[in-house]
Amino acid sequence: MDQSTSTELSAVAVEAARAVGDRLRKAFRSRPAVETKSDFHDPVTEHDRAAEEIIREVIERRVPGSTVIGEEGGSEGSGEIRWYVDPIDGTANFAAGLPFFCVSIAAAAGDEVVAGVVYDPVRDDEFRADLGGAWCNDVRLRSAGATRDREAMLLTSYPTPRELADGGEEVLREFGRMLASFASTRRPGSTALQLAHVAGGWADVAYGSRVSPWDVAAGSLLVRQAGGVFIPLDGSIFEPGGYLAHAGGFDLAGSVMSDLVPPGHFA
Ligand code: IPD
Ligand code: CA
Ligand code: CA
Repeated sequence: MDQSTSTELSAVAVEAARAVGDRLRKAFRSRPAVETKSDFHDPVTEHDRAAEEIIREVIERRVPGSTVIGEEGGSEGSGEIRWYVDPIDGTANFAAGLPFFCVSIAAAAGDEVVAGVVYDPVRDDEFRADLGGAWCNDVRLRSAGATRDREAMLLTSYPTPRELADGGEEVLREFGRMLASFASTRRPGSTALQLAHVAGGWADVAYGSRVSPWDVAAGSLLVRQAGGVFIPLDGSIFEPGGYLAHAGGFDLAGSVMSDLVPPGHFA
């Protein structure tokens, strides 16, 4: 795809994300009613569903016939351009009143993410990427920071409650190795916004073991276009699995995280 088409798609993503900004800002800290999906660790509110509907309408109006894959509404359409939509990434934070959540929207063609936005409605931070670069509020992003674990900040959702139930002590030991190795480890609760911060060089490493394409598609392009590294750990960004991302210049081979990376990455 040429760069100008990808820029046009990123503008559509921005328009769709901003279209739900007022709604999310108004609902934030109203303690909206919470329902749960797969289990009690998996919350959803009426605002997740309503925001996704609005985002779908904008996409359908601007790029008719697209395929839209949304967390709440599933897959619709069969067009060549595929949109991955997470209307609220960080729903638990949003519902409780913690200001770390975002709207994440990416456009993909074939096996490539070609445009994306991660929009933080509380700070009004618009992280946008296309095939020409990555920006936050129109300021170019350069992903650079610490080079070694002992100076670096790790952002992660690991371990998830499900992993803990499945893996028990070994999972906690692995998390312990990360805590011991990094200068700081945080579990801020939004994968997409974590990736946006690595793209900005405001955190050094991000890791998730079980994420969905709508969590990481936009953030992966932000990180890569800002000069950082994004590695899908189970083959594809477009399938559920793990990911590891880091700022440009970080020494992954010397990091405690190197064990997670598929053999061949360092070849
Ligand atoms: C969740 C967040 C969280 C990650 C989960 C996601 P949601 O998204 O990104 O950081 O650990 O895997 O499901 O449910 O708030 O959209
Ligand atoms: Ca999500
Ligand atoms: Ca979500």
